[in-house]
Formats: sequence, C-alpha cells, structure tokens
Amino acid sequence: MDGMILGVDIGTSATKTVLFDLTGRIIASASREYPLYQPQMGWAEQDPEDWAQATLNTIAEVTASAGVDRRSILGMGLSGQMHGMVLLDKAGRVLRPAIIWCDQRTQRQCDEMTSILGRERLIEITANPALTGFTASKLLWVKENQPDIFERIDKVLLPKDYVRYVLTGEFATEVSDASGMQLLDVPKRQWSGEVISALGFSMQWMPKVYESVEVSGQITPEAAEKTGLWAGMPVVGGAGDNAAGAVGTGVVSPGAAFSTIGTSGVVFAHMERPQIDPQGRIHTFCHAVPGAWHVMGVIQSAGLSLRWMRDELCAQERELAKQEGLDPYEVMTREAMQSPLGARGLIFLPYLMGERSPHLDPVAKGAFVGLTAVHTRRDMIRSVMEGVCHALHDSMEIIQEMGVPVTEVRAGGGGGRSALWRQMQADMFGVPVKTVQAAEGPALGVALLAAVGAGAYDTVQQACSAAISLNQPLCPDPEAGARYQRMHRIYQALYHALKPSFDAIAAMPELE
Ligand code: XUL
Repeated sequence: MDGMILGVDIGTSATKTVLFDLTGRIIASASREYPLYQPQMGWAEQDPEDWAQATLNTIAEVTASAGVDRRSILGMGLSGQMHGMVLLDKAGRVLRPAIIWCDQRTQRQCDEMTSILGRERLIEITANPALTGFTASKLLWVKENQPDIFERIDKVLLPKDYVRYVLTGEFATEVSDASGMQLLDVPKRQWSGEVISALGFSMQWMPKVYESVEVSGQITPEAAEKTGLWAGMPVVGGAGDNAAGAVGTGVVSPGAAFSTIGTSGVVFAHMERPQIDPQGRIHTFCHAVPGAWHVMGVIQSAGLSLRWMRDELCAQERELAKQEGLDPYEVMTREAMQSPLGARGLIFLPYLMGERSPHLDPVAKGAFVGLTAVHTRRDMIRSVMEGVCHALHDSMEIIQEMGVPVTEVRAGGGGGRSALWRQMQADMFGVPVKTVQAAEGPALGVALLAAVGAGAYDTVQQACSAAISLNQPLCPDPEAGARYQRMHRIYQALYHALKPSFDAIAAMPELE
C-alpha cells in the first residue's frame, strides 16, 4: 500500500505535527508553542483552545507543504501530554482551564480517594496509588472548590481527546492515555464503574474507550476546511505521549524498554500481562499495542538537574563553550569524563522538584553527599549525571524485581544523545543501550498506529519493523556495573536517611 500518515503530539510546551511516509521518513513537519499558566505555587494550567488552534494550524501548514497530495494521507493519530483534565458542558464548551499533569494541588484529594476506596483496592483496579498528577484527584478538587462548575460537567476529556473532539466531533479516548485518569480498570481495559461512582462522578461523562489502533472518528467537513485534510479521513485512538514514544522507538514486544532523559526522566518496559507493583512505586498502564501493558517509572528532574548545574555552577564551562563554538553540555561532558566512575565518592540526589518514582514524595530535596575539599566541579558534573542514572535505576530495579523482562534499552530525550549518559545507563542497568535513527518518538508512534488502523500494516510490531532502525548499542561493562551497584546501595539509603530533614525543611515555609 502507498500513502502517507500523520502524527500530532500535543506536548506541554508545543504541539508538533509530522507527516511521514509508510517507512517513517519525514515529509513535512510544523510546530507551535503556547503558554503554561501557574496561577499559584504548584498549580499548572493550560487553555485547551491553544492545543486545538496549534493542532489546526500545524496540520494546515503541513498539508500546504510543497508536493503533499492530501488525498494520499491514509489517516492520523493523536498523542499528547497525559493526565490533564478538560471539562466540557452540554454544548461542548470548555468549562475552565485544563489542570495539567504537573499540577500538584490535589494531595488532600488523593488522601480522600485512598480513604474512600482503600489503597489496596485502588491499586488493584487502577494499577496505581492516588497521585496528584492524575486526573481523578483533579475532578475531586473541582467538586470541592468549584461546585458551580462541577454541576455543569457533561464530559471529561484528556488533552489530545479534546483535540479529537474538535477534529471529529467524537467523544473518545484510548486505553493508554485513559489509564492515567485513575478511573480506568487497567487490567480490564474499561472504565471502572466502582471507582467512578465511589468518587461521586458519572459514567455519562466518560468518553468511549478504544484500543490505540482503532478508528475513533473521521475528520469533519469543518475541520477539513481548516486543516486541508480530506473530510472523512480516519483518526485512530492514538496514545498518551509515553506509550506513543514507545511505539515510535519500537518498544512493542517483550524484552524491549526505553529510557528518556528530557526535563524529566522515564524508564518504560513492555509487558504481555498487567503486572502491578503492589507498593505502587511505579505505574502500570495499558500499552498502545492491543492486549499489552507497560510499566513505567517517572523521575521529576533528569535533564533539569544538569541544566540547573549548567546555569548555577558552570559559568566557566559556558564561557569556554562560547569561545570554542560548542554547546555548554559538550564541555561539561568532557569535564565529567575526567572524573572517575563514582565521582570520587560524591553522590547527587536529583530530587530538585520533589520525586515521583519510586518515592512519590513532593517534598523530597536534592543533595550532594560525600563532598570533600578534593572535589572539583568536574566531579560535581559527573555526580549529577550519575545521580540521574541512579534515580532511573531505582525504577529499573523495581521493573526487574517484578520479573518484567528487559533485554535492551533504547535511550531517548536530549540526554539520550550523550554517549557518557548512555554508557552509565548500560553499566547500571546491565543491558545494551541503543538509540533509534529517527528521533520523532511520539509523533511517529501515533502515525504508525494510524498506519495499522488504515490497514497499511497488520500489527503495530510490523509497522515498527518497517519504519524504525537502530544504531549500534553501547554494551555494559560488568566491572563498572559492580562498582555502580555498590554506589547504588549507598544512594538508596540516602533518601531514607535524609527524609526527616526534607520534612523538617518543608515544615518551615519561611525558608522558601
Ligand atoms: C506521565 C507524565 C508525563 C506527561 C507529560 O505519567 O506525567 O510524561 O505525560 O508529557
């Protein structure tokens, strides 16, 4: 079959739209940024209309590119930031700004959810403990703080699913993103009536749940007019950004995993059955591959930690980079390579924004431990990079403890481009670390789901084999691995040792 496929990724800072051929080659792409609103400390909101406009405009730009025959676009897929809450009234109008994934206002509502349903039952059904980032606690917050809005709710949608409504007129979602609402029975891949009614919500609010490759609607004549797409073009379920990124890097069968070092960090592994960490330290969600699930650990400050180091402590490296015409991170990495494995006993805890996996602790703080007069900035840079990998390794160890097979890791995000960071991961995880040739992750992932939905490929695995190629791996060095493992035990003990101090600092708001 010939044709093109379209992928849209509605991120937190921008929407990116990419048109590919069926072998994953980019034909055209466009992106638009939009603001993030932080009306109070710890709050994070966005305007769903910004996502819709950015999507309409970027698709219009892509379809207007030279040489694009619009009729040969077989279908499209939507990916996006997970967990955001979009509320619509009966007329389909947005009721309030969306409260998005990184908003932290709902700890009280999480405690309430836990006491209403019981921690164990909640984990059994939704595969996760109550989390501030997830959608359900945000709905409870609206119920308690904005009852006039709560009463007018007719539909609850996720960010990309609001855009789907604008493009197709359908109220629909799919299993991977719906898993992050904490209202889905994740093992059964359907809404949980038990959770929805226990929290005082209505089943009528919930969009229809599809598998990620299923066609969920068609482009309306009105959306066709605005975007240049053809009316009736199929839109598949798509996926939350992490599951979409997994498809876009070919993490779609047992043994495959990926890690991302962007602002935050992710470790993600494919699962054939819904295994759940009973302690809820990492997330279990439905995968975008029909009948599969995935397990995922998310750390709050991965690349963010090295950026902090660059901005606050590396003026000299920045200056040198300017003189040599290099990126400051290249100079910093060169320095880090001159510090030995273990950074001469210096350990960094990357909890600069609290931590999600495995501690679920918004008041955790960062730390350098083991500092002596012999240490230099080189050691500090290296320990920041190692600290980020130790934090990712915490999640990887839980994944391995659960018996989920991981035979190789595909590294992505800005940090995935660093060979030093990839080697640290290979040594700590004990498996080869590869990179993929095309770095379009989520947009490619959902475009491939659309290719399956449109019948160009029979399975997601087949689509990935046709479109994704890998570079040579970096392999683990067992001796380095053993040394990192000894450091990791010290690293792990430090969070628990320092926890009373983190709490004591948090109890003194006058210090902030
Ligand atoms: C996943 C998560 C983030 C968002 C932002 O649980 O919170 O990865 O999807 O993109």
